[in-house]
Amino acid sequence: MQTLLFSDQCEQPKAVNVASVPQRSPFRYPGGKTWFVPRLREWLQSQTQKPALLVEPFVGGGIVSLTAVMENFVDRALMVELDQEIAAVWQTIVDGDAEWLADRIQNFELTRDTVDAVLGMNRRSVKERAFQTIIKNRTNHGGILAAGTGTLRKGEAGKGISSRWYPATLAKRLKAIDHFVGRFSFMHCDAFEVIEAHSTKADAVFFIDPPYTAGGKKAGSRLYTHHALDHEKLFRVCSRLEGDFIMTYDNAPEVKKLAKEFGFQAKPISMKNTHHAEMTELVIGRDLDWMMGIDRLLEEQAVYNATSKRFKKTAIKRKRAS
Ligand SMILES: C[S@@+](CC[C@H](N)C(=O)[O-])C[C@H]1O[C@@H](n2cnc3c(N)ncnc32)[C@H](O)[C@@H]1O
Repeated sequence: MQTLLFSDQCEQPKAVNVASVPQRSPFRYPGGKTWFVPRLREWLQSQTQKPALLVEPFVGGGIVSLTAVMENFVDRALMVELDQEIAAVWQTIVDGDAEWLADRIQNFELTRDTVDAVLGMNRRSVKERAFQTIIKNRTNHGGILAAGTGTLRKGEAGKGISSRWYPATLAKRLKAIDHFVGRFSFMHCDAFEVIEAHSTKADAVFFIDPPYTAGGKKAGSRLYTHHALDHEKLFRVCSRLEGDFIMTYDNAPEVKKLAKEFGFQAKPISMKNTHHAEMTELVIGRDLDWMMGIDRLLEEQAVYNATSKRFKKTAIKRKRAS
């Protein structure tokens, strides 16, 4: 079979058992890549040697790093994030305080008043800020931490502010990550610094999932506090990497143009189920042969309608502890 370069054809999605993808992240993260995990496994498996390091410069909810290490596809993962609220959570975990955070979550009685009290406090320690972030992430609309997003009022099934609060599940996830803590590193800094610092490492692979703001797209800017990015620079920096990389992007003309300019392959990938199949993302890399003949992905997750003033969940069909 021939590799599809810049094809707009997206194979029809086949059923993939989403339950076979373990939810490992303590976040419910807008733009999270849990749906991509089956592909991630295939990409990592296609490496000629087990990579010593996975670098994830835009880590967000971290499902890619967590999966790569916890399923033993790589020896170590280096997670990078600029957002200080998210950074506090990853820092707390790599500092060995995941148990502390798990206990804090389990002992918290969540009501609107206690949430307001936690969010209103000036947290000094990193781990207290991590707790605050988890509370905010679980009680804000869509898990969005960026300014301008309010807390859940009606929530799901009339459960209001606690409709996404699963303390036992969160504690379990944190404790599971803690078993692998020695294999994760975290840096609270700019993605470019880290990508460039690791550019000559042939045994490192890079998973690059920037905010989707190329061509003036609004989606990324509403979801993340840090969204301004020099996309052309990102492509240039990637073109100089010794190690293999993939990028995921929105399927936009500007992005395809950049991929062409830098001689990369780009393939659309369906990210929703057949009922909402109109949306695709792009996977970009030097060689996407590993993407041939493999089942498409399915996802039933919140879809943020970038054209409306407020983001609306338009595709939540199934209630999941995501
Ligand atoms: C599309 S999200 C990543 C989602 C992630 N792949 C997941 O599965 O949850 C992009 C992330 O990059 C972060 N970010 C934006 N600009 C950054 C920069 N210059 N350096 C590091 N992180 C940045 C944002 O805060 C956001 O968390």
